[in-house]
Order: sequence, then structure tokens, then C-alpha cells
Amino acid sequence: MVRVVVKHVTKALREHHDNILVALQLLYKALEARDGAAIYELVRFAQGFVDACHHSVEEYVLFFGAVRGGFPFEGGPIQVMVCEHGTGRYLARAMEELYKAWKAGDEKALAELIDVARLYVDHLAQHIDKENNVLFPMLEAHVQAVESNRSVEEIEKENNHDEWIKLLDGLREGLMTP
Ligand SMILES: [Fe+2]
Ligand SMILES: [Fe+2]
Repeated sequence: MVRVVVKHVTKALREHHDNILVALQLLYKALEARDGAAIYELVRFAQGFVDACHHSVEEYVLFFGAVRGGFPFEGGPIQVMVCEHGTGRYLARAMEELYKAWKAGDEKALAELIDVARLYVDHLAQHIDKENNVLFPMLEAHVQAVESNRSVEEIEKENNHDEWIKLLDGLREGLMTP
């Protein structure tokens, strides 16, 4: 078990959030431009970075550690956040399916993909807002440190954190420069 200071975890998670918010803007841009390759990379980012890397740090380290330390789960903000992770995962899988259908020649799948992407962007933006401004300040004020089997850095390394951020930088250049 490692002892992780809560403010250390929330600092890393807030940095993840900043990068995720950039990815959400890029997803909108890519859909507007009907840029298939960029859309595909961003759907992969939603699964590989947002869900596998970021949500793992939240659920394994911060949330579970806080619950083991006595912070309530049922009926509290952590349960709401975990449910919302499930919704995000579902929407990312729906985007993957619609992208594949579009690429296979189903023209109406693109309009559906745009609708689902909009839902995903709204869902994740409000989720991040609640974590940054409600849950994290609450945990920072009430829990000093959590016990975890894995450190933030281990989870980031296992899930190729740095490669995902590099991919985002490349997409930003491609989509934001006229
Ligand atoms: Fe979350
Ligand atoms: Fe988050």
C-alpha cells in the first residue's frame, strides 16, 4: 500500500481535466470539419485516456481511498461521479460504433455520431465542473491522505499518459491551425 496525499492526486486529476477539455473542443472541431482520422483519434482518446487512465486514477486511488477512509459512498457525490463514468464509457462506445458504421459507408451514421459526440461533450464538461468545484474541494478539506495499491504515476505509466498528451498536441496543431 502507498500513502497518497489527496492534494497530490487532485493536482494530477485537474491537469488531466485541462487536457480532456482541450480534447472535447478538438472533437467538436473534428466533427465540424468531418475529419474522419481526427474523430477516430479523439474517440480512442475518450477510451484510452479519459476512461482507462483518468477514471482509473479517480476510482482506484482517490475515490476508493476516501471511501475506505470513512467518506460515504452510497447516496453521496462519489457514487454520482462513478455512475457518470459509466455513462461516459457508454457514450464513447456508441461513438466508436457510429464511427465504424460511417466508415463502412453508412452515411446517416455521421449525423448520429455528431449527436452522440455533443451529448458526450456536455456530459463530460458538467462532470468535470462538479469534480473541480464541488467534490475535489470537499475531499481536499476533509481527507488529508488516502491508502492505495497503486500510485498515480504507476497508473499513468500503465495507460501511456505521455503518449496520449503528445497525440493531443499533434491534433491541436492539425485542427486549430487554419
Ligand atoms: Fe470523474
Ligand atoms: Fe475527472
